[in-house]
Amino acid sequence: MRIDELDTPVLDCDLDVLERNIQQTADLCRRLGIPLRVHSKSHKIPEIAHWQMDAGATGICCQKVGEAEVMVAAGIRDILIPYNIVGAAKVDRLLRLARRATMTVAVDSLETAQGLSAGAAQIAGRVRVLIELDTGGRRCGVQSPAAAQDLARQIVGLPGVDLQGVLTYPSRREAKPFLDETVARLRQDGIAVHVVSGGGTGHEAISQEIGCTETRSGSYIWEGLTRVHGRDDLDSNRCPLRVVTTVVSVPAPGRVIVDGGMKTFTSYPPIPYGLCLEYPELHIVGMSVEHGHIDSRASTHRFRVGERLSFIPLHGGLTTNLHDKMVGVRGEQVEVVWEVAGRGKIR
Ligand SMILES: Cc1ncc(COP(=O)(O)O)c(C=O)c1O
Repeated sequence: MRIDELDTPVLDCDLDVLERNIQQTADLCRRLGIPLRVHSKSHKIPEIAHWQMDAGATGICCQKVGEAEVMVAAGIRDILIPYNIVGAAKVDRLLRLARRATMTVAVDSLETAQGLSAGAAQIAGRVRVLIELDTGGRRCGVQSPAAAQDLARQIVGLPGVDLQGVLTYPSRREAKPFLDETVARLRQDGIAVHVVSGGGTGHEAISQEIGCTETRSGSYIWEGLTRVHGRDDLDSNRCPLRVVTTVVSVPAPGRVIVDGGMKTFTSYPPIPYGLCLEYPELHIVGMSVEHGHIDSRASTHRFRVGERLSFIPLHGGLTTNLHDKMVGVRGEQVEVVWEVAGRGKIR
């Protein structure tokens, strides 16, 4: 089947570009000598995770237990969830996964660690944990090396919980003193630190520089609009993801409406929402739930109802999560249709 025979809106992916992106980051990490743990939240497709592992990734990340269930069912056997897993229902699912795969999770409080320990006692299970450090990202994480040491001392006494080390996000040079002091404090206490996990696409070399034992990268596979600083430096040859739409109305000169809105592209701010490949001069200026509003005044082209327009979406991970399927294409030919098996797995 050819790509222009697919009904729209449809999410498609240029497999040659995807393959190149996967290989380039794998090669970069190999050259740097830092293990790469890929974050599957960017695609939520088990086949892509396997592809990344085959290229050299040592494991994957999932942000939620539900995503990890999908990946373990698909045969992935080493998963880090860099997220505090809170509540008996989730902990139980996590512990059951930990019987079938190596599962590691983040903790930044005694409550979270105790919850894991209580869940482990229920099913005689074990889970590995990393203490999350807030080294400047200002999301989760303990606030100082002393707080990390304090938490570590309490975690080592908890049954069913194996403290493996620490994690932070994103890797920044300024984080090094925080990481070094934390590792030193834990080692002074006789606590082995096997893992120092850093991350962020584009931060792989920094992870290596600041002494991480692995780096977590996710969005490198899409290199979407959020990864470039303005339209001019966008190299569409590095962006495999496209939303293909159809023009459903040309209501007035200078205005074009396509059949994808927030439920197709996400409403993630700010505009431009996406870059049109056929007519880069177009601006998506707004989104209704199911309509995309385009300002076409900068274009000399006369748009017609029924015409197809393809966009590189602003945020690959958010856009992927809205679609049941992703179509893999080479040139104009459809090669594979993937189920986005982890989509919507927010628990
Ligand atoms: C905890 C954590 N690690 C790693 C990543 C991957 O970052 P990136 O998508 O920039 O590669 C993310 C992304 O948000 C994250 O939240």
